[in-house]
Amino acid sequence: MPSDPEEIERAAAAIRAGKLVVMPTETVYGLAANALDPEAVAKIFEAKGRPSDNPLIVHVCSTEMARTVASELPDEAFALMKAYWPGPLTLVLRKRPEVPAITTAALDTVAVRMPNHPTALALIEASGMPLAAPSANRFGGVSPTAAEHLDCSLVAKAAAVLDAGPCDIGIESTVLDLSGEQPRLLRPGAIGKDELERILGRTVSAGAEAVKRSPGMYPKHYAPTTPVFVVDALGERPGLTFGPAISSSQIKMPQTPAEYARQLYAAFHHLDKLGLSAIYVEMPPEGAEWDAARDRLERATAR
Ligand code: TXA
Ligand code: MG
Repeated sequence: MPSDPEEIERAAAAIRAGKLVVMPTETVYGLAANALDPEAVAKIFEAKGRPSDNPLIVHVCSTEMARTVASELPDEAFALMKAYWPGPLTLVLRKRPEVPAITTAALDTVAVRMPNHPTALALIEASGMPLAAPSANRFGGVSPTAAEHLDCSLVAKAAAVLDAGPCDIGIESTVLDLSGEQPRLLRPGAIGKDELERILGRTVSAGAEAVKRSPGMYPKHYAPTTPVFVVDALGERPGLTFGPAISSSQIKMPQTPAEYARQLYAAFHHLDKLGLSAIYVEMPPEGAEWDAARDRLERATAR
């Protein structure tokens, strides 16, 4: 279901007019606006109910466009872009003054990513400008990985919704901060710490200390409205299991990290609509390949 060129052109015209557009990416759906227009970006914060101290990711369709928002692309950034762009890797870099303070929550850095989705790339290209886009959900909620997950109140504030079907990756991009001495993993995602270290040829720091630098990484986040609890084994309770599902309120989750990530938010959106008093989740196994999934589950269960 890739969007047709006329639909993209209409959405691009809306972006140029300072309006909001819901766009698909390979990770999750985003709520996009012209990253360089402070009034347009203010509409994103308003529509999401997002605190103003939580900076946005700026989406570009080329390395050249990345240069228009980042004041310098260090060799390490370049190497990672070459290896993983377009793709689910966001790089935090020193920003250019052209990027308004509201987009970066007044930080002197900007988060940049080139999404690996034909519709997103076509929209950025047709708009002719970088697009600020957080996940297209109300603040703190579960990111939409298909158009049917979108909140009506949020859709009402967008001039267009580009529906391209379910997202391939299903959880938000890996965020790596390259603006300091040491590369820091601010948010785990489909591209793992070990893969980043292999390209960089040095250690990437991670964990609570590293994440202190990312104002938007609240402990509670990505959570369904229904309270979520971790359990060793689901038994007869509703939720996510690795064993067979024995009722319609249980979902059997895949055993591989990529497939698990792809289905996780859809599972949450589904269970959240059932009016349950709680959702129970069996934690995935230890091991670096499950880091991103465990991170999202920990945030969904944080109180
Ligand atoms: O996959 C994704 O990244 C999706 C799609 C739509 O591209 N976007 C997304 O955006 O997840 P959002 O706003 O939900 O998450 C952005 C994350 C936040 O944790 C924020 O704190 C961090 O990126 N971030 C943005 N700018 C930053 C900066 N200058 N320094 C540190 N962290 C930053
Ligand atoms: Mg989000």
